[in-house]
Amino acid sequence: MQTRACIFDLDGVIVDTAKYHFLAWKRLADQMGINFTAEDNERLKGVSRMDSLNIILEIGGLSPDDGTRLKYATLKNTWYVEYISKMTPSEILPGAVRFIGELKKAGIRTAIGSASKNTPMILERTGIAELFDAVSDGNIVSRAKPDPEVFLKAAELLKEDPGRCVVFEDAAAGVQAALRAGMKCVGIGSPAILSGAHLVVPGLDKMNLTLLEGIEKL
Ligand code: BG6
Ligand code: MG
Repeated sequence: MQTRACIFDLDGVIVDTAKYHFLAWKRLADQMGINFTAEDNERLKGVSRMDSLNIILEIGGLSPDDGTRLKYATLKNTWYVEYISKMTPSEILPGAVRFIGELKKAGIRTAIGSASKNTPMILERTGIAELFDAVSDGNIVSRAKPDPEVFLKAAELLKEDPGRCVVFEDAAAGVQAALRAGMKCVGIGSPAILSGAHLVVPGLDKMNLTLLEGIEKL
């Protein structure tokens, strides 16, 4: 196999944290008198914390100053951390551990490539930190997806050529970031949203080494 490394987005690919992001943003929106729905929450997938807040403020037609925005983002994160601090291994998405095990047996290295600054806590609470050879996250990169920085940093940490890395992503902005990094991309979710990806599967439970090899020729 030509692929040397697989880089995984965390939220929505390895663990289901979207529900906690939604609960925390909804709590904030309610407090601000903004009607924020589950459908609106879809727009926040893969989007950085501050950009997510700005989308919610835009929905509510509010335009507070930067200091107030920072206070809101910090408050949301306090609540979000309360929720994720109670996460357990049962919240790892189906197929993730099995597929990563297969990659390791095949000598393929693994990394996380996530916008989240809460990556270390989520990996620790779900007990999967040791599955990854490197972690590139919101604590070490400054440019949000679709900028390729988070994936290029992961390749750099692994000391692998970006052209031989494959990214797994559930957000459209993440697929764009992978392609801009010069990497192959497997979309996790709906083909309608992830059309730019080289392959789309509904979840890692449907992923295997044969499919991975198949996209090398594309
Ligand atoms: C992404 C999520 O992985 O991380 C976004 O899909 C989230 O919803 C972003 O806003 C930043 O996460 P955090 O934990 O640093 O607020
Ligand atoms: Mg995601």
